[in-house]
Amino acid sequence: MRIVVLVSGSGSNLQAVIDAAQSGDLPVEIAAVGSDKPEAYGLERARSAGIETFIAPLQKGATPEQRQEWNRRLGEAVLSFEPDVLVSSGFMRIVSAEFLDTLVRTDGQAVPMINTHPALLPSFPGAHAVRDALAHGVKVTGCTVHQVDSGVDTGPILAQTAVEVLPGDDEPTLHERIKTAERDLLNRVLAETARGEHTFS
Ligand code: GAR
Repeated sequence: MRIVVLVSGSGSNLQAVIDAAQSGDLPVEIAAVGSDKPEAYGLERARSAGIETFIAPLQKGATPEQRQEWNRRLGEAVLSFEPDVLVSSGFMRIVSAEFLDTLVRTDGQAVPMINTHPALLPSFPGAHAVRDALAHGVKVTGCTVHQVDSGVDTGPILAQTAVEVLPGDDEPTLHERIKTAERDLLNRVLAETARGEHTFS
């Protein structure tokens, strides 16, 4: 199964996928890693592993037209690698419904996009899931891998893992424990997808 992975930051989840793929534990080929941020450390991780990278920057305060153009450029870059699946792993951008509609390979195969999120959706969608869960005082949170649809973290849920909030947790400590669970969850869902165990809408 060929995948393209999108990252915006550190890419520690991406590293777990790279490691599993390289060790032969995960039947996945990472065709490319892309980012909206040239400085994303995830790109460095990809280069060190000999994986192709691409950058699709989105300028601050982009107009709707510029956003549309960015979606078009991102889609073109992704499709040039003919992936089976597109993975958003710490990619902190919302893609448009048109972007998802045009994710179709030259052989006509639709390319599903999946995302990993650091909360038990539908609770705490958005960019600050760990902070929001702590602020709400939940005792259990976790991570979700879901198919991306045109909403913000609203697509069909593929798998989840619960993570307990411990006394004294702050955002970094809790997020780190969630990420440990998230890495296993993402690799599990990718393995299941490679085996054809998930159907995508
Ligand atoms: C992960 O926890 C991921 O779920 C989250 O960013 C982190 C990226 O970590 N994504 C979101 O919050 C998207 N809404 P990483 O760059 O170290 O893999």
